[in-house]
Amino acid sequence: MNDKKNDTLWLKCSTPGPYPEIKVVRPNLFYAQLLMEDYAGVVSELSAIGQYVYHYITFEEKHKELAELEECISLVEMHHLEMLAQVIRMLGGNPQYKVVKNNQDVYWNSSYIYYGQEICDRLASDIEGEKAAITQYQQHYKLIADPYIQRLLERIIQDETYHIQLLTQALQKHCPY
Ligand SMILES: [Fe+2]
Ligand SMILES: [Fe+2]
Repeated sequence: MNDKKNDTLWLKCSTPGPYPEIKVVRPNLFYAQLLMEDYAGVVSELSAIGQYVYHYITFEEKHKELAELEECISLVEMHHLEMLAQVIRMLGGNPQYKVVKNNQDVYWNSSYIYYGQEICDRLASDIEGEKAAITQYQQHYKLIADPYIQRLLERIIQDETYHIQLLTQALQKHCPY
């Protein structure tokens, strides 16, 4: 990856328009805990980044176009990760790569990633991951009564919806059956 390329590459995989200002009404540790799941749980931005970067690396040699798509989407997920980290901090949380389940810390681990074998299973898993992320964001949207955070989640859902579109196009092209 080189910096110049990445300045413009990620724009291809995010929806147009600015991201909302990163803000919260007031600190709230429960909201921080919910967002830690989107940040570094099983279905999370960190899992998505790990998966897309791995797919990017494995596609690079033979499938340049797919590699670029995976890289491009991973850069948008990094932006999502960073914005979630900022919100978690404003809520009074600490954006380490973990979630709290039954009062216990569960640290993120790389088994959350679908590594895959070939193009079609990888793209199918990428699409499933985006769908699961949207469902989780929608659940959290309902539980978080903070309009600033809700606006951010809406904007992230918009990007994830676009990722499904991009990945589905690639799947249809490479896996027509
Ligand atoms: Fe994301
Ligand atoms: Fe995404």
